[in-house]
Amino acid sequence: MGISIGLVGLGQFGKTFADLFRSHPLVDRVALCDREPERMIQVAGRPGWERKLESRDMYDNLADLLKSDVDAVAIFTQPWLHALQAVEAMKAGKHVYSAVPVISVPDGDEILDWCGRIIDTCRSTGCLYMLGETTYYRPQAMFCRRKAREGAFGRFVYAEGEYCHDVDARSNLRMVEQARISSGAGKEWLEQKKKYSATGIKNGPMHYPTHSTSGPVCVMRAHAVKVTAYGYANRSGDPYFADYAYSNEVALFLMSNGATVRICEMREMAGSIGQENETFRIVGTRGTFSENRWKENFRTDTSPARPLVVESLDEKAMRDPLPPEVALAFHQIHHPEATNPTDFTPSGHGGSHPYLVHEFVSAVAEERLPAINAWEAARYTVMGVMAHKSALRDGETLQVPDFGDPPGGC
Ligand SMILES: NC(=O)c1ccc[n+]([C@@H]2O[C@H](COP(=O)([O-])OP(=O)(O)OC[C@H]3O[C@@H](n4cnc5c(N)ncnc54)[C@H](O)[C@@H]3O)[C@@H](O)[C@H]2O)c1
Repeated sequence: MGISIGLVGLGQFGKTFADLFRSHPLVDRVALCDREPERMIQVAGRPGWERKLESRDMYDNLADLLKSDVDAVAIFTQPWLHALQAVEAMKAGKHVYSAVPVISVPDGDEILDWCGRIIDTCRSTGCLYMLGETTYYRPQAMFCRRKAREGAFGRFVYAEGEYCHDVDARSNLRMVEQARISSGAGKEWLEQKKKYSATGIKNGPMHYPTHSTSGPVCVMRAHAVKVTAYGYANRSGDPYFADYAYSNEVALFLMSNGATVRICEMREMAGSIGQENETFRIVGTRGTFSENRWKENFRTDTSPARPLVVESLDEKAMRDPLPPEVALAFHQIHHPEATNPTDFTPSGHGGSHPYLVHEFVSAVAEERLPAINAWEAARYTVMGVMAHKSALRDGETLQVPDFGDPPGGC
């Protein structure tokens, strides 16, 4: 028997995931929830929805959805709402998928507190929590995790992660913000936000750090121990950055495995640092991954390095396979007559969206911990919080707290 799931928040991002959840072979029933009913109606009217959506399963508020008998909820509301809604949902007995970030608010201590509360709620309720971090299922991350499992990096010595999203880039952050505050929930936030301004708390791009931190952390399976960071403050008086101490932040971490990691979160810059806006590089004593190239010298503790072999990789080669029945179901969203699962090309943030949906749905169906569980999500998030604190203290070196591993390990 499959699972039932409620999709909460059918705005810009949530609506792009709706058909993936609906078409997954292990999902029997889908409920929709948005405070703006026309957003639900738009999704419900798409082809194929009549098979898994019952008329009783349209909710214009989260509280009512949580009273229903769905097994799980997938939260795509605005970023300041995720953590509170995730905790409420788990307390109501629902497994939770949350779009990134865990939560984004100007106060770093509040973010740390919510990471702890989500972990505590997983423990007390036994419900599963998964963060929908897109970088985790980018092809580069899948490839590097495979190489790490084989020991092909040797010992990790250094990594870089960066998220370069200029405020005026193609996915324009001014427009995204306007869209998010245009709904009922958005207007309420404008009021709540005033409490941070009143106390002088300033935000920073490191409060949305998971696209840059998750690559090095998930490949090396290490967490941050210490950080030193600096910020660049906007100098043009741009109103977008009025609540921000810095528009760009750069941090250097010492990791639990002894490696050093450099993280950049940039919102005011031309282009990107490397070939991609969102990327990571991992350097080991034996293997190095950078800009879609794998370089290996085959060094071991008992034999010296051999001549370096450099392999250029394409995305298809780097991805893990999806189960054929899942790939076919996803392919049939846009090609109903399709019969060949290998024709499916994953799309959405490097092709990560189908993988995120498959991981969460199968974790719930199999009653196992999802890959990006609450403990893993906290590690990505805490790095950013502590980096912002260090930048506010002019680069003071700070210890990075760790919430540990989940019961039973990852
Ligand atoms: N790469 C990525 O992982 C990535 C990319 C884009 C967006 N996101 C995340 O996706 C989330 C959604 O972003 P968006 O641009 O779609 O926002 P949006 O404002 O377009 O949509 C949010 C929706 O949630 C609804 N909502 C809010 N509170 C609700 C409640 N209590 N009950 C029911 N519905 C409620 C709103 O009415 C709105 O329709 C954000 O948190 C963002 O950080 C992640």
